[in-house]
Amino acid sequence: MTALGKLFRTTAFKLTLVYLVVFAVFAIFLLGYFAFNTRRLITDQITQTVDAEITGLSEQYNQGGIRRLVTVVENRARRPGSSLYLVTTFSGEGLAGNVGSLPTGLLNDDGWKETIYRRQDESDTVERRALVRVFQLPSGFRLLVGRDLEEREHLYEIVVAAGKWSLLLVIVLGLAGGFFVARRVLVRVDAMTETTRVIMNGDLTGRLPVGGSGDELDRLATHLNEMLARIETLMAGLKEVSDNIAHDLKTPLTRLRNRSEEALRLAKSEGDYRAALEATIEESAGLIRTFDALLMIARAESGHARDNQTDFDAVEIASGVAELYEPVADDKGIALEAGAGQPLPMRGNRELISQALANFLDNAIKYSRQDASSAKPVIKVDATRDGEQIFFTVTDNGPGIPEAMRGKVTERFVRLEASRSVPGSGLGLSLVAAVARLHGGELRLEDNNPGLRAVLVLPRGDVQATQ
Ligand SMILES: Nc1ncnc2c1ncn2[C@@H]1O[C@H](COP(=O)(O)OP(=O)(O)OP(=O)(O)O)[C@@H](O)[C@H]1O
Ligand SMILES: [Mg+2]
Repeated sequence: MTALGKLFRTTAFKLTLVYLVVFAVFAIFLLGYFAFNTRRLITDQITQTVDAEITGLSEQYNQGGIRRLVTVVENRARRPGSSLYLVTTFSGEGLAGNVGSLPTGLLNDDGWKETIYRRQDESDTVERRALVRVFQLPSGFRLLVGRDLEEREHLYEIVVAAGKWSLLLVIVLGLAGGFFVARRVLVRVDAMTETTRVIMNGDLTGRLPVGGSGDELDRLATHLNEMLARIETLMAGLKEVSDNIAHDLKTPLTRLRNRSEEALRLAKSEGDYRAALEATIEESAGLIRTFDALLMIARAESGHARDNQTDFDAVEIASGVAELYEPVADDKGIALEAGAGQPLPMRGNRELISQALANFLDNAIKYSRQDASSAKPVIKVDATRDGEQIFFTVTDNGPGIPEAMRGKVTERFVRLEASRSVPGSGLGLSLVAAVARLHGGELRLEDNNPGLRAVLVLPRGDVQATQ
């Protein structure tokens, strides 16, 4: 019962019903029009025939008087399938014809009348219907000529019956069609509902069934499936991040607590306490940096950063970041070279791109001086343009990243074994990768023979001032 109710409530079924009503109204109108016109046509034919006969008969009367009229009428009345005739005196006494009885008073005045009558030669008592015309002859005799309406009524009945049956057929077929279509739709929608229930129960691998016919339900299912796939990857990413955070932040926090406990237990002098507190502050600062980096990555991955785009000069950004790192490089005896050139206007999130470049430079400075035996470290920063793309390149001549690890180091919290001695949280390149994704560009890590060549490739974007 509820299944049937569900079926009747579907849009497909309601639409069928509306079409059915429209079609039925149209069919009724058409049949009515047909019936009405057939009836009129037959009536016209009868009146014409009767008029012609009356003209003919009154001519006979004019030529040969009542005697001749009576003879002609008797003759005609006897023919099979003849019209109805009656000739009477002024007082209504029948002289000739084939009409047995008529309603009284019918012959009193002239004109067209629809009446019931009985034929003379028929013994039965059936009353028939006829269309008759009464005509008064000059000397007071009356002439009635008419035709039976049985044919007309019969035709009319046929049309009405045909109408009734075809209407019934339309309704039955329409309802069956609606039922069928609605059921088909309902089966598919039910399958979709079932899948969504599975998904809501936490199984994100569930996908809506696609019939393959390419209809609107298929398109809807395909799009929803794409959306589900995207949500699934996002959820997986989110889970990975939270796992990473839980894991990687636990270590520094545990260290923090252990150190504090140790200081409480072992510190004797004010100097010991001070040293312990300083170590705590340093550790906390590292934690805060890690959180900042994570927040920045999250921002780069959210849609909000995409709205926050401005026009700026790529060369200016590159040299600006290089300038910022110059004192640090100087301190460590590293030569920092920034390429200068024509301005390269581009469009993007300026703050995030600067931070990405800063991360490149930070790495180059941090890791290029690991083995003292190598040549004097040189770092080059550059921004160039090729077609519609801008290349931000930072190269160093340090140890570089082994090819097998180049894909890995862009993941969150991933650091090479060799770099453990240098502080860092393994989030720098993750941010660069996120910034590249945000702008529809890419992060390339290449061999600089020796050293690392880190390239951030970004589309120039829809920049206003083209040069
Ligand atoms: N220029 C480089 N030369 C050698 N190794 C590098 C270089 N840049 C990055 N790496 C390696 O890639 C790892 C990941 O770098 P990333 O910038 O993501 O993290 P991090 O520098 O360790 O920490 P953070 O940047 O968050 O302070 C580094 O730990 C390091 O091992
Ligand atoms: Mg780094």
